[in-house]
Amino acid sequence: MIVFDQKSATFTLTGKGVTYAMGVTDGVLEHRYFGASVVDGDLSLYRTEAATSFEARVPGKKSQNQIAVEAPAYGRGDYREPMLVLRGENGETALDLTYTGYRIEKNHALKGLPTCRGGETLVVTLSDAVRGVSVDLFYTVFDDTPAVARAARITNTGKSDLKIQRAYSDALDLPGNGYDLITLYGAWARERTPERIPIRHGVASVDSKRVSSSAPLNPFAALVEHTATENAGRAYGIALLYSSSWKIACEGAQNGSTRLIGGINDFAFSKTLAPGESFDTPEAVFVYSSEGIGGLSRAFHDLARAHIVNPAFADKPRPIVVNNWEATYFDFDYERLFAIIDAAEGTGIDTFVLDDGWFGARVNDSAGLGDWTVNRNKLPEGLTPIIDRCHERGLKFGLWFEPEMVNPDSDLYRAHPDWAIGCPGYEPLLSRRQLVLDVTRKEVRDYLVESVNRVLKENAIDYVKWDSNRNVSDLWSPAADPRDRECFAHAYALGLYDLFDRIVLANPRVFFEGCSGGGSRYDFGMLRYFPQIWTSDDTDAGMRCMIQYGTSYCYPLSAMSCHVSVCPNHQNGRTTPFATRCAVAHLGPTGYELDLSKLPPEEKAQIAEQNALYRRDEDLVLSGDLYRIADPFDVRAFGFLLVAKDKSKAALTLVKLLTLTNAERPLFRLPGLDLSAAYLVEETGATFRGGTLAELGLPLEWRDLHDFDAAVFHFKRV
Ligand code: DGJ
Repeated sequence: MIVFDQKSATFTLTGKGVTYAMGVTDGVLEHRYFGASVVDGDLSLYRTEAATSFEARVPGKKSQNQIAVEAPAYGRGDYREPMLVLRGENGETALDLTYTGYRIEKNHALKGLPTCRGGETLVVTLSDAVRGVSVDLFYTVFDDTPAVARAARITNTGKSDLKIQRAYSDALDLPGNGYDLITLYGAWARERTPERIPIRHGVASVDSKRVSSSAPLNPFAALVEHTATENAGRAYGIALLYSSSWKIACEGAQNGSTRLIGGINDFAFSKTLAPGESFDTPEAVFVYSSEGIGGLSRAFHDLARAHIVNPAFADKPRPIVVNNWEATYFDFDYERLFAIIDAAEGTGIDTFVLDDGWFGARVNDSAGLGDWTVNRNKLPEGLTPIIDRCHERGLKFGLWFEPEMVNPDSDLYRAHPDWAIGCPGYEPLLSRRQLVLDVTRKEVRDYLVESVNRVLKENAIDYVKWDSNRNVSDLWSPAADPRDRECFAHAYALGLYDLFDRIVLANPRVFFEGCSGGGSRYDFGMLRYFPQIWTSDDTDAGMRCMIQYGTSYCYPLSAMSCHVSVCPNHQNGRTTPFATRCAVAHLGPTGYELDLSKLPPEEKAQIAEQNALYRRDEDLVLSGDLYRIADPFDVRAFGFLLVAKDKSKAALTLVKLLTLTNAERPLFRLPGLDLSAAYLVEETGATFRGGTLAELGLPLEWRDLHDFDAAVFHFKRV
């Protein structure tokens, strides 16, 4: 709900359990509050001044350095990190944005960029007549989520060019400067490890300069009270619906406040607007919880499932796939693939996905990318025999693509070497023996749209895995306006989203899974198009406990593709029990990444039962509330509890990681259940009250478990 109180010039935005308040004073749109619901409309009395140093101000008014501002700009006395840095034609940076009006919209859109769906959007317009700028600030609130989505549109209303040097999506000035900053760092096959550091004064930031969102750092951050825990304390989160180079920063300021900002990375960025032109920033979402980091995650999960993921798939049962990558890598023919397909019959697996290697001259990773026609040396009759075999065995068929890439050894590259990104005078750098196509160019996108859509049209394909296996180097495009050479990373994002619109959205019948060497492009922008993303190339159950734990800080389980693979594990050589691999792979849309035809009979025999169990409780993965019970980064145990929204059932997955000799008894308290209701534990037949489980946890003979053993318990309210 959005309310404007004329008398106090206050905007009050109400989401589920949260209030976001702003007010106009002396023409400036000031931030008043974001957090748990408050009812006082006019919070302007909190505009008190604190520690100062040489404040610059308009006589009689408060210094901009002292107040909480919704769109802080550089140059008029606010010395903290600005949201906007705009330059006039002579290099002037001063910018004084004054409130000019507001409107309320439904279904607002940003040019070429993904946004959250639904909600109600307040658009506040600010302007600066001297600089010739108008800025629309977008605020979307949702009655079912404690979140506010923000973005900005900058328009050149002047008579000369305007240079945008920084255009973040938002700024949030929080009271106090005693927060901890939580971010997610990682690497390929070890994505999204939570890191928590105390912030007091000065700037701390995380970013990507890779023209992709992750894996070294993820476009997410949380500011939590120093005392906040998994289940208690104030926690504020930010995440970006953006898949290219980004930055999130926070600054503890001298007056005792903390600013949180983020959006397009302004490193090597600028964008020139001619008179009349405008520029949209990506959308950023803020969420709030007073239930600690766990509450913050649940808020992000609810937002993603209700307002980001395509509603046609969001809470619908997902395909259970078998993927041939770890089974065959590039070395397959019909016979090897048929063996896997045949073995899947009757197991509950419903989709066979043919991974890399089916096209062009692809026999290893050195050739073929860009040539999206079947490799007739490997598959002389094309895809049809494989698809027919799938259908005969009751399976659907899925196919792998990596549309953004090209191998120098490909027909596409030989015909259009200039379509690969490169910087004049330099030999473009290879990564995995491939180059990146310049999707900022329309003719390149047209080729990709035509060639991928042709394969989808000519074959019965139900599932696509869209991969991307390197980051961009040698940034430059001949197609860029010479004034906008520093806008390449953002232009790439716009090109990518155009591809998604024309391939993913143009094929609504096909289920698209995102992937980037596993989880190297894992963000809410991608989730807008891909209901799930291959969480990591690391399929070891032990590492997956860590990766899925960290990923869950921001992203719902329904977004994390999780597959069972063989042991010794291909990434790290570890051997874990088959039951543990299944238990961990059931904490997201599940599947298999192995040669089913070579599986030991005792493991093969378990698959049908495992899949039936997964299907029975899939609603917990798709829409349940997640409570993190044990943190795998302390190396002893991992634990996730999934609780149905109506609290009628729950599932607890525990994995013992490293056994400590003669260890103390662990305490796994189970919050989130109905405290007064009784729950039957299906595996033991025992019954406990929700309150007992919340205080004492589940009685367990932990000593009986060995390294990497899993224990799964299902709770049913009786
Ligand atoms: C990286 C992906 O994450 C893998 O699952 C697989 O699809 C390979 N690429 C294929 O090249």
